Amino acid sequence: MKLSTLFFAALAEAIVLPRTEETTFSPGPDGKYTISAPGIKAQFIEYGATLTNLFVKDKNGNDIDVVLGYDDLDWYPKDPGHPVYNSIPGRYVNRIGKAKYTLDGKEYITQDNDGGNTLHSGTNNWSFRYWNVTAFTPESITFSISDASNSSLGMLGRVDSSVTYSVTNSTWNIKITASSPEQRTPVMLTQHTYFNLDAYKNPSTDLIWDHTLYLPYSSRYLEADQGALPTGKILTASPGSINDFTSSPNVPFGHSKNDPKFQGNCGANGVCEGYNGYWLIDDAPKDAVVLTLASPFSGVKADLRTDQPGIVLYSCSWMDGSAVLKKTQGLSDKQRVVKSSCVAVEAQDYPDGINRPEWGRTEAQILGPDETYNWESSWTFSLL
Ligand SMILES: *[C@@H]1O[C@H](CO)[C@@H](O)[C@H](O)[C@H]1NC(C)=O
Ligand SMILES: *[C@@H]1O[C@H](CO)[C@@H](O)[C@H](O)[C@H]1NC(C)=O
Ligand SMILES: *[C@@H]1O[C@H](CO)[C@@H](O)[C@H](O)[C@H]1NC(C)=O
Ligand SMILES: *[C@@H]1O[C@H](CO)[C@@H](O)[C@H](O)[C@H]1NC(C)=O
Repeated sequence: MKLSTLFFAALAEAIVLPRTEETTFSPGPDGKYTISAPGIKAQFIEYGATLTNLFVKDKNGNDIDVVLGYDDLDWYPKDPGHPVYNSIPGRYVNRIGKAKYTLDGKEYITQDNDGGNTLHSGTNNWSFRYWNVTAFTPESITFSISDASNSSLGMLGRVDSSVTYSVTNSTWNIKITASSPEQRTPVMLTQHTYFNLDAYKNPSTDLIWDHTLYLPYSSRYLEADQGALPTGKILTASPGSINDFTSSPNVPFGHSKNDPKFQGNCGANGVCEGYNGYWLIDDAPKDAVVLTLASPFSGVKADLRTDQPGIVLYSCSWMDGSAVLKKTQGLSDKQRVVKSSCVAVEAQDYPDGINRPEWGRTEAQILGPDETYNWESSWTFSLL
């Protein structure tokens, strides 16, 4: 539709009824907002500002859908397992230790929704809300949210935020901004993207361990306790050890899957298999690729660039086969999201940094009046 047509349609509606911003743009007949550019097509819904589908070219020239999600859009808010599929959790992602923090000398209690800690700000997190679409073109879409004071327990002061997703030439760009006009409050955001670069079409495995992973600037990582909360200690992965993805490029993600410590490497007293932790990005040049995930089967390679100081990797240990795949994914005998069959990659600041002044990240995680929060990442897709 031409912009002028859109404008007059919006104007005509405005005369009849007071309209809210979100009614200016509507999704396509499939219920999704679609943006595309050469080599890439991305689709979104308002719920959680969620990416539902991401199509890129595989080595055979086919368009494959490399992120997790559901065909049934009504299932996103209902899914009891709610894995935060490709959405923006907020206003403070990841964990807040012991469900409390201190800011400017005052203690705030947050919601205990994760075994004594707070996860993704609690049960009214941004990934469970319907965002407003505030801009939409064939190559880009912006979602906005206004988060009222204390709508997540202990998160005081209104926060306004927007995420703009755009695509250019096989690249998915993500830019998030936020402001906190009323008072200082914790703000830490991410795009919680889940990948399987084979779209579950590899007949020999649907596990993620055959993918390769390279984190060229991330030999250091945060030690975590059994509940995936950082202990405060920063460790260095020795070459070849379970948490090493730095010492040589493009080793299999599952390079240590036969190590006895692999079971339990992400806690839960031995039950969490693989990874659910945070890797620091040290001394990366501006615009450097900080993570490369690839799959020899599909030939798809995904390069992450980000302005964030580290990356959460979660290898889907808690997926239990209850989630169904989209029709764009899977094979006749692979139709479910089984344990360790995907990886969530979340560029973000240090988890629980508001409670760890020794890391020096506290001020970066507090947003106040007259400041703007900025977060920027991109994924570029190519072939191995
Ligand atoms: C986010 O909020 C929803 C809705 O209240 C809740 O069901 C879900 O458990 C919350 N997420 C987390 C990680 O707590
Ligand atoms: C969407 O916009 C309307 C009208 O401005 C507002 O009332 C509503 O709170 C907004 N939704 C979100 C999630 O911010
Ligand atoms: C925040 O909300 C809780 C209830 O969810 C309430 O007990 C508390 O007093 C509120 N805090 C403020 C500062 O309004
Ligand atoms: C698109 O990306 C490819 C691969 O990175 C590059 O070779 C090509 O020049 C780019 N095209 C444009 C129009 O930027």
